[in-house]
Amino acid sequence: MKILKFDSIDSTNTYGKSNFENLEDKAVIISDEQTQGRGRFNRTWISQDCDNIYLSLILKPEKKDYLANLTQYMSVIAAKTIETYNVAPQIKWPNDVMINNKKVCGILCEGVIKNNKLSGVVLGIGINLNANEKILEIINKPATSLNIETGKKIDKDLFLKKFLDNFFENYENAIQKGFESFEQDYIKYTNFLKKTVFIQQRDNDTRKECTAKAIDKNGNLIVLTENNEQEIIYSGDLIY
Ligand code: BTN
Repeated sequence: MKILKFDSIDSTNTYGKSNFENLEDKAVIISDEQTQGRGRFNRTWISQDCDNIYLSLILKPEKKDYLANLTQYMSVIAAKTIETYNVAPQIKWPNDVMINNKKVCGILCEGVIKNNKLSGVVLGIGINLNANEKILEIINKPATSLNIETGKKIDKDLFLKKFLDNFFENYENAIQKGFESFEQDYIKYTNFLKKTVFIQQRDNDTRKECTAKAIDKNGNLIVLTENNEQEIIYSGDLIY
């Protein structure tokens, strides 16, 4: 596995997209800090704490049917790795990892198109391993870090090794079978099913109140609206 390490970079995802053709399948790009870290829906991912993880994977599998499920696969792997530190991670649909209802990890997957065909994805993850509390306070949503939750500094190299080993252990299965290959683990980590939640499709959109009913076979969220109608939610944020 090729690992490219930077002290500082604009964004590991941006680097992965710009250099996609020259990077080998399963290459790992990692940086101690990012000057323009990006999140979902064009949000900023604050990336100044150099003992956190800012990482992107270059993935170019032959079978591309289930590439969209890799974000949820990665959230399960992050939760599994975090769990080994004796805390109880939870997944907030679709792929945020939380501890005590505060976000510890976010995932951003970007497709790369060449000649109108999908070549693969850059799958990026930011994990708050050793964040500074002052920096977490800048974030406008509840956020935490593994060092804060455990009361101990986290060895970044050791965490990274566990995370990458876990990721590639079942990666082929996820590529061949999609969501069903890790569905049970995903459901195990969720804590919103059967509860009243709000769905927000975009920042500043109105929030829609509904009941989170189930996760379907493709990882989409099935909800019951206020009028008791069933709806499938394909993207957005869950607020509860
Ligand atoms: C989110 O929750 O909105 C997704 C955050 C993803 C952040 C990671 S950090 C490594 C990679 N590079 C980026 O610019 N973003 C992702």
